[in-house]
Amino acid sequence: MKRVYIDTLDQHYDEEVTVAGFVENVRDLQWVQFIVLRDTTGKVQITIEKSEEANKDMVELVANLTNESTITVTGKVVEAPKVKMGGKELIPSNITVTSTSAATELPINIKDHDASLLDARLDYRWLDLRNPYNSNIFKVQSKLVEAMREFLYQRNFVEIHTPKLIGAASESGSEVFEVKYFDRLAYLAQSPQFYKQMAMSAGMDRIFEVGPVFRAENSNTNRHATEFTGFDIEFSFIDSYLEVMELEEELLTYALEKVKASYGDMIQEVYGQEVVVPTGKFPRISLSKLYQELEQRYGYQVSDDAKVDLTTEAEKLSYQYAMDVYGSEFIFVTDFPKDKRAFYHMRKEDVPQGYDLIWRGVEITTGAQREHRYEELKKQAEEKGLDQDVQFYLEFFKYGCPPHGGFGLGVDRLTMLLLGIPTIKEGQFLFRGPNRLNP
Ligand code: 4AD
Ligand code: MG
Repeated sequence: MKRVYIDTLDQHYDEEVTVAGFVENVRDLQWVQFIVLRDTTGKVQITIEKSEEANKDMVELVANLTNESTITVTGKVVEAPKVKMGGKELIPSNITVTSTSAATELPINIKDHDASLLDARLDYRWLDLRNPYNSNIFKVQSKLVEAMREFLYQRNFVEIHTPKLIGAASESGSEVFEVKYFDRLAYLAQSPQFYKQMAMSAGMDRIFEVGPVFRAENSNTNRHATEFTGFDIEFSFIDSYLEVMELEEELLTYALEKVKASYGDMIQEVYGQEVVVPTGKFPRISLSKLYQELEQRYGYQVSDDAKVDLTTEAEKLSYQYAMDVYGSEFIFVTDFPKDKRAFYHMRKEDVPQGYDLIWRGVEITTGAQREHRYEELKKQAEEKGLDQDVQFYLEFFKYGCPPHGGFGLGVDRLTMLLLGIPTIKEGQFLFRGPNRLNP
């Protein structure tokens, strides 16, 4: 089909063109019929004069047209300053119905995303996403991922695809989904971590992966999903985890710049969020210093037991701290205690050489320099009682492996934070959580 998109109709005045999309609305008046046609780029009014003899069949077709049916329309684009929808209308010579919607009344409201309950919207996600407010989220997400990929390709990173079905529970025993695998059990990967590192051992030097990550966590928050998209990076011959942080700073700055250039105005207008491109290095603070600052500045107090990790509240307040002191939306938090970090993080004087990156008050990344020396790594795995489970992984480090590091970014969380939408459920094409496996 030679078809034009609605947002390009301005270039076709007085020409005959074909457009295709969904019927958003039909008004059947005494002398005239109006259809509002919607495609992924916008809406246009289609006007049919009932008195014209040539329109007889079309008039009957339109009289029976249900909302949300799909049609293909061929007609002439004419300027019509009085028409609200872009000051133009399409005068059709032919309308073909390509699918008929079963009902005029839909199970959810697709014109106002606030009008239906979120659960009902997710039940009918394919209708929910017909609302541009919802589907535009994925145009932005797509641009974000495109920009991050582009940044890495320019720096000689290779995109790889690691298996999600694995034979041994990785990283930590909990949080792993079991699946029946012929006559034995397999597990769904809770991170590409081990295989990213295998690529380092394989001498691939710089790799990344964008793929599904599974977490069997019964967390019902606005930022947890049981399946999400991870943007994972790993690269070799680093001297310190500081290089990992630097790469992430540059990557996010680049990506936000690209998103702003393409969608900054739309994001401001539709979602009320400014896309802020960072202008320098992100501030860095150790976990213990952060708790000190939060207490001094904002009177935030928690027990010493809680201070071994970032509490949700501390994450939120760290945003305020970063803004107040550095005017930055991002802040790196370092020097977590080793008990709270994965066994594969390299340690120096017992301090894990890694970080969390907090954006707008939510963790978006954990990253680190990894322990690449076989003996040390084995010892650290044993310490956490994981050495049996990760036997296969330890093998990767036996025959030489460069020093390396990397990080994992949650794409869905990034999307949610970028647009200021209230929950990750709307930042995923199809949310997966403890109570949701359908559609
Ligand atoms: O912090 P996480 O668990 O780190 C890892 O997976 C490490 N292997 C990464 C590394 O290279 N050291 O996960 C990375 C990111 C988080 O910072 C968060 O953005 C996202 O993945 N994430 C989730 N997103 C949605 N739902 C969940 N349940 C998530 N868990 C983590
Ligand atoms: Mg983390």
